[in-house]
Amino acid sequence: MPEDFVVTPWEVRGKVDYDRLVEQFGTQRIDAALLDRIRRHTGELHPLLKRGLYFSHRDLNWVLDEYEKGHPFTLYTGRGPSSAMHLGHMIPFFFTAWLQKHFRAKAWIEITDDEKFLFRDFDTLEDATRVGRDNILDVIAAGFDPKLTRIFLDTEYIHHLYPMAMNVAKRITFSTARAVFGFDASNNLGQIFYTALQSVPCFLESVEQGHNVPCLIPCGIDQDPHFRVTRDIAESLGFYKPALIHNKMMPGLKGLDSKMSSSAPDTAIFVTDTEQQARTKIRDAFTGGRATVEEQRRLGANPYICSVFAYYTYLFAPQDEHLAEVERTCKSGERLCGDCKAELADHVVAFLGNHQERRERAKDRVEEFVVRD
Ligand code: TRP
Repeated sequence: MPEDFVVTPWEVRGKVDYDRLVEQFGTQRIDAALLDRIRRHTGELHPLLKRGLYFSHRDLNWVLDEYEKGHPFTLYTGRGPSSAMHLGHMIPFFFTAWLQKHFRAKAWIEITDDEKFLFRDFDTLEDATRVGRDNILDVIAAGFDPKLTRIFLDTEYIHHLYPMAMNVAKRITFSTARAVFGFDASNNLGQIFYTALQSVPCFLESVEQGHNVPCLIPCGIDQDPHFRVTRDIAESLGFYKPALIHNKMMPGLKGLDSKMSSSAPDTAIFVTDTEQQARTKIRDAFTGGRATVEEQRRLGANPYICSVFAYYTYLFAPQDEHLAEVERTCKSGERLCGDCKAELADHVVAFLGNHQERRERAKDRVEEFVVRD
């Protein structure tokens, strides 16, 4: 049956049905037992886990088996340079930093300037690299521990990646790449090769330690196809298959099916937005409100179709009591959309102020995090 949505690393289209995606991709749901197991190690669960926004995984139980036997794991995530990093881009970094803190895990973070040049987000490679350097400040600001974190740009770190990339690339046929990514004869050679470079960091910790180290990758589920390929070839290279934990894509401000897009500024809050920009975008966001105040007071509104409620759920109501209160007063009609937006805007503005300060401070700390040689 043809699907009415498409999820690939380079395109997310239509209304994503995450249940069907789990089946299509062949991943596992994160269930209550797994959440309990994580909680035993972390104490409180991260809100994104508790609320089902990290919802799917591969081999996470195995990673925890190993951890409980005294074999620590390494974390790996990444980001393609983006002239405007929005809140959705930050989610894997917040979550990875949280995992790092609770499991004392090393984290490898790949900045794929090559990818974003090859896939035409930038006209020149130099632009992609420059923007990647700038994005690194946002990554650092997410709260990583410099002693446990390695951030690298592909074009700067390539001498450490290339030998392993050869071993990976030799094991992936064009016919696999075509089936997994939908490539055709119009794709350039770099695009076809690129997945090798996203695979390699899974193995960097094992190479550095000289023995096999489990690797856990927090990422948007759209990135899973790369790692499906990696998992197929890992053991033939003598490594463990990387494990994954997947998040749902944070919706845009124009409704739950809308996407955040760097090219459409009013669809997303960017980490560099000014207070005024953030307030205006939230004011104009799509909600589940009624046509008139009178109707809303009488019938209540619908948080389950509302972008503003989604923003509370993802990032801006970390306390469960707070989120429950927003939900209850929305449905009862006690809360009007204007007030709810104003409250959200205050939280977002506070977050942005905080983040931008940390980002400024990160400028003096780049050398503590970035590896080149
Ligand atoms: N391809 C990712 C992007 O477009 C960047 C990336 C590289 C990544 N390695 C990763 C994402 C590992 C998640 C996990 O942003």
